[in-house]
Amino acid sequence: MVHFGHANALRQARQLGTKLIVGVHSDEDISLHKGPPVFTMEERVKIVKGIKWVDEVVENAPYLVQIETLDKYNCDFCAHGDDISMMADGIDSYQIVKDANRYREFKRTSGVSTTDLVGRMLLATRSHFRTSRDLQSSTSEEDQTQRTRVDRFSRQDNTVTSPWTGVNQFLQTNNKIVQFSSPKDPSLGDKILYVTGAFDLFHTGHLDFLEKVHAMYDSIYIIVGLHTDQEVNRYRGGNFPIMNLHERTLSVLSCKFVSEVVIGAPYTIDKNLISHFNVDMVVHGSTEVLPNELGEDPYTVPKDLKKFEIKLSGSEMNTGTIISRIIANRQRFEDRNHAKEIKEKAAYEAEMKRRAEQTKYSIRKVIS
Ligand code: C5P
Repeated sequence: MVHFGHANALRQARQLGTKLIVGVHSDEDISLHKGPPVFTMEERVKIVKGIKWVDEVVENAPYLVQIETLDKYNCDFCAHGDDISMMADGIDSYQIVKDANRYREFKRTSGVSTTDLVGRMLLATRSHFRTSRDLQSSTSEEDQTQRTRVDRFSRQDNTVTSPWTGVNQFLQTNNKIVQFSSPKDPSLGDKILYVTGAFDLFHTGHLDFLEKVHAMYDSIYIIVGLHTDQEVNRYRGGNFPIMNLHERTLSVLSCKFVSEVVIGAPYTIDKNLISHFNVDMVVHGSTEVLPNELGEDPYTVPKDLKKFEIKLSGSEMNTGTIISRIIANRQRFEDRNHAKEIKEKAAYEAEMKRRAEQTKYSIRKVIS
């Protein structure tokens, strides 16, 4: 999966230098070392290229990072988060560059992981956007046990808990939003375009759509209106959205085509919204336009004002496609998560032991 935790990693990595080149592994390598990827390499490359802190992408990057690879792309350093990345045989895939002092580290984003997202999809949980009061007051057995079920999914048993993978709630802060934003007002002559939707699990369909919208005019300012969780759940039903509004906000903000995000946008677009943002055109993509709660077309006003256009993304990808892929691979994903936790726990303990030994050694040196 590619989620805003990855975007935050790339944001931090970019701050460590002046140019960021991202190596994307092949599907075969990921299957061998981590378990089956949700997106193909081609899809992952597209998503990574859409992230605003990325300058260049290298396909089929080797899993074991080599000095020759860094030299080939003229890189001073290789950067990775402060969790350990291991190969199938338990070797740290960054050991060579660490030993050569060509390695830099950034902080892993807590509160988001592929494991948690996959868990939400597999277990049809809604608790990531329902309030605890909703859940407490609900008598439904499903509601009561949702969070516990996701927790259990990520651990599978109580004896293995990785400090990196697993479920803990993402906590949105104003700082994070500021870090993800590129504050800029529309410039004179910019066409102001407004698009709206769920943008759940921000995927290649959204990117294709936003790319096409971005290409509509030479000078453009794209505002994305994100529907609230309650609204998305009204028209999509089931356990949607998979990502809550806070999470969807960061995913969309990390996209290079997006200038501004409305966090909790109205479903029906009225004159007030159009004049508030000075919108030149409202654009919708390839998906069906679903009626509002009154059974009416949410785009009636912009259509009447001749400020509405359909821009086909040419992509069939949707949130459902991602969930179907995960369900089809369910057993493999569960095995992957379990194996990953065990490996990470062992690596974490070994690292802690190594640090403790090092401290003991330095204390001994100081004393002698
Ligand atoms: O489905 P969602 O509300 O997330 O879509 C947001 C916008 O992206 C909509 O305009 C939708 O039509 C567009 N989209 C698209 N092609 C896709 C998926 C979404 O044009 N494959």
